[in-house]
This record gives sequence, structure tokens and C-alpha cells, in this order.
Amino acid sequence: MENKIRIGVVGTGRGKTFMKPASCTGLKLAAVCDRRPEKLEVIKSQYDTDGTLMTFTDYDEMLKSDIDAVVLANYFNEHAEFAIKALRAGKHVLSECTAMSTLAEGVALCRAVEETGKIYMIAENYPFTKQRLEIKRLYESGELGEMLYGEAEYCHPMLNSTTYKYAPGEYHWRNQIPSTYYCTHAIAQMMYITGTMPVRVNGFVPQIKDQSYREYEFRQQDSGGVIVCQMDNGAVVRTLQGAFRTHSGIARLYGTHGAAEVERSTGNVVVYHSDVSRMGQPAYRSYAPDWPDFGELASAAGHGGGDFWVQYYFGEAIRNNEQPYLNVYRACAMSSVGILAWKSVLSGGQPFDVPKWDDEEDRKKYENDTWTPFLKEGEDPADHPPRAVAWKPLPEALDKAKAAWEENDYLGLGWSKKDIDMSFDKVKMN
Ligand SMILES: NC(=O)c1ccc[n+]([C@@H]2O[C@H](COP(=O)([O-])OP(=O)(O)OC[C@H]3O[C@@H](n4cnc5c(N)ncnc54)[C@H](O)[C@@H]3O)[C@@H](O)[C@H]2O)c1
Repeated sequence: MENKIRIGVVGTGRGKTFMKPASCTGLKLAAVCDRRPEKLEVIKSQYDTDGTLMTFTDYDEMLKSDIDAVVLANYFNEHAEFAIKALRAGKHVLSECTAMSTLAEGVALCRAVEETGKIYMIAENYPFTKQRLEIKRLYESGELGEMLYGEAEYCHPMLNSTTYKYAPGEYHWRNQIPSTYYCTHAIAQMMYITGTMPVRVNGFVPQIKDQSYREYEFRQQDSGGVIVCQMDNGAVVRTLQGAFRTHSGIARLYGTHGAAEVERSTGNVVVYHSDVSRMGQPAYRSYAPDWPDFGELASAAGHGGGDFWVQYYFGEAIRNNEQPYLNVYRACAMSSVGILAWKSVLSGGQPFDVPKWDDEEDRKKYENDTWTPFLKEGEDPADHPPRAVAWKPLPEALDKAKAAWEENDYLGLGWSKKDIDMSFDKVKMN
């Protein structure tokens, strides 16, 4: 651990999670980049423990510095271009979800990792709660047999007043994101537990008749997105992501020999065996699992411990010079599920194949697929697919949103002055 891996973090919202890495990860904060200088001053006062922290408003300038790796916590739909630049500048990359916002970006990202040989990892933290790690242990022991069906959910409702702070500006990614796109938290759990990959995707959104029901006034998003994936072992996985006015982190797996799930109320792992598949196991048991390792550090970390494990595995991958489990191919697979599910929603639920991201011949078909619902300022919505199908704008919504942004001293480029202190570290998840 003598030679620390010097990281540069882009983005000072979620990015803060990566600014105090545990020493066993081998990572050290060396630089922070944010286009907002006033944010950098705050960060310096909080995280510059030895007077050496470099700060940048220009990402290209940070890439010229002597950091070893970048952590991307910039806008959701801009990760791939930032990752490719970093890889080509000789830096390893830990990218927040999602890996890319178009299939073409996914192709370019895979090629950049292969051509540079640098480590790339998606910072997907939801597979690493102690409950999911325990279900993975059970799965790998053979007790559950092979997955037939799995379910995972990531529902995170937000008050309109909070949304205005988190998402200032018409073009902020949170105001544009279709309900299937934030899917990696859910699908990654089943991929990691079982080692399977999604191969085909169908997407749906609820379209009830009651037009007075909407999760958000301005944010253009349907209540939630339902995705059904066929996995490469033949199993079916259903994921749910969005708001639905309740927090939910369901994880449930039915195997050929038994079933396991995370109990919502207690956080216990519950294991079921029917008479035919019992194999000497009790028909039902429920227990509080423990961490396999680093319990104290993981318990203290955000997102049910996942924030610790992501940083730990990133450090390990760099030290061993071996791509991590959450490598670029899995990153693109889980991210493309959300894109393809949205194509499916817009085509009435038709299935779409997931590109074989590690196969140049297959992925080449997608190298020009720049289809995206995310608009940049000045672009014509008519040139892009819609971001919602059931959600309809309220006539007064934009004015209301603008008033809220102004009240928060909207600065343009997706930022207000009063957005501070919405700590991501406190999210609790079983
Ligand atoms: N894994 C998790 O549990 C988790 C939790 C929260 C957010 N996230 C992800 O983290 C990412 C960031 O989330 P957030 O809520 O902080 O988003 P945000 O939009 O609130 O903040 C993005 C930050 O990036 C900065 N930024 C954007 N473009 C920049 C540029 N060109 N140069 C310099 N700085 C730039 C912005 O100024 C801002 O500080 C998103 O992709 C989100 O999906 C993941």
C-alpha cells in the first residue's frame, strides 16, 4: 500500500463518496474537477488533508496531471465520452452508472479499453450489500440450483421540491431520463449473483387512464419502468426502476433447487426449499447475514456497504492489472438494457437483442447507433425519441420549475447555488 493510486474525481455531488477512500483500497484523492469553482473551494476546505489536493474546472487539464485514475461522477448521460478521453490519456477509469447513453458510445468505449489496456470499471454498488453477497454465496454453493427467475428493484421517489434542487434546468439529465434508463442498480444484482448476462430485453411502463396521477410536475418521467430480460442461461429477470412513491430494493431469486430473497421489513435473507428440492435443507429459514470481510468498513459506507466494495475492487484491479468483474463488457451490457428497454417501450413491448459487447463483429452493427432521448440545449425535440409516454406535461409546469430554479439561484449548466448538502452517503439499503 506504499504506492497509492492517485485518483481524480469529476463531479462534486455523488463524487464526494469517493473523496475519502478507506486506506485498504489503496486509493488516494489527488484531484477534483468540477466546472463550478465555488464548489471546488468547499471541497478543498473539507478534503485537502495535506495541502496537496489539485482542483480543476477543466477536465482536459486534470487529465494532463499526474493522476493514475479518474472517477466519473459527472452527468449521467456524459460518462462514455469522459471515460474514453481518460483511457486515451493513459488513466484508469471508475465510472458511475450508467456506462453510456447510446449504443454507439458503448462500442467506442469497449474499443478504447481494449486498445489502451487500462482498467475500466463501472461503479455499480448495489450488488455489494451483505444480503446480496450472501445470496451470491448461496447460489455459488449450489444450494439454490440454477436461476430460473429473478427480480430486482430500485425505486427511489423524490419530492418535486427536491427534484427542482437536484435537477435545475430543463436539460439537466434528471429531467430527461426515461424510466428504464436507471436500470443498472437492479439488473447488476442478478448478473453479479448468478454470473449471467442479459441477452434480450422487453420494456414496459404503466399507462393508467388517470391523468391526474403523476410522480413529477416537471421531470419528464413515467412513474416507473418494468424490464423483462432473458438471460444467457435461459432464465428470466424482471427489474423495476423509477419512483412509484415508495423506496424499494427487492431482490429475489428462484432457482431449480430453492429460492432466496431479501426480506424488506427485516433485511434478513430468507431461503425456501420445497419438498422436491429440499435436499436436506429446512423448508424455510430467515437470518441476518454477515459480511464476508471488511465488515466494519463496509458497514460504515454508503448504499448498504456497496460504496466501500466498489472502491476496494477498483484498487484491486489496478494493483493486479486485471480487469474487474464489473468490466467494460458487463458495464455496457447492464447499461444497454435500459436503452434497449426504452426502444422496446416505444415499440409496444417488442424484444431487442443486447449486443455482444466483447465481440467486435457483433457490436460493429451498433457503432453508428446514436439514438438518444437526451437533448442538449438548442436541439429540436422532434429529432429525438420521447422521454416519457404516459407522463404528460402540466401546462404550468415549466413556469413552476423556472420559479423554483430562480428561487434556488439557478446558475445555468444544470446548477443552482442552493443545491448543497444532499448527502448521498446516508441512503440506507437492505
Ligand atoms: N451509484 C449510486 O448509488 C449513485 C448515487 C447517486 C448518483 N449516481 C450517479 O453519479 C452521477 C452523478 O450524480 P449526481 O447526482 O452527483 O449528478 P449531478 O448532476 O447532481 O452532479 C454532476 C456533477 O458533475 C459536474 N460536472 C458536469 N459536467 C462537468 C464537466 N464537463 N466538467 C466538470 N464538472 C462537470 C457538475 O458540476 C456536478 O458537480 C450520475 O451518473 C448518477 O447516476 C450514482
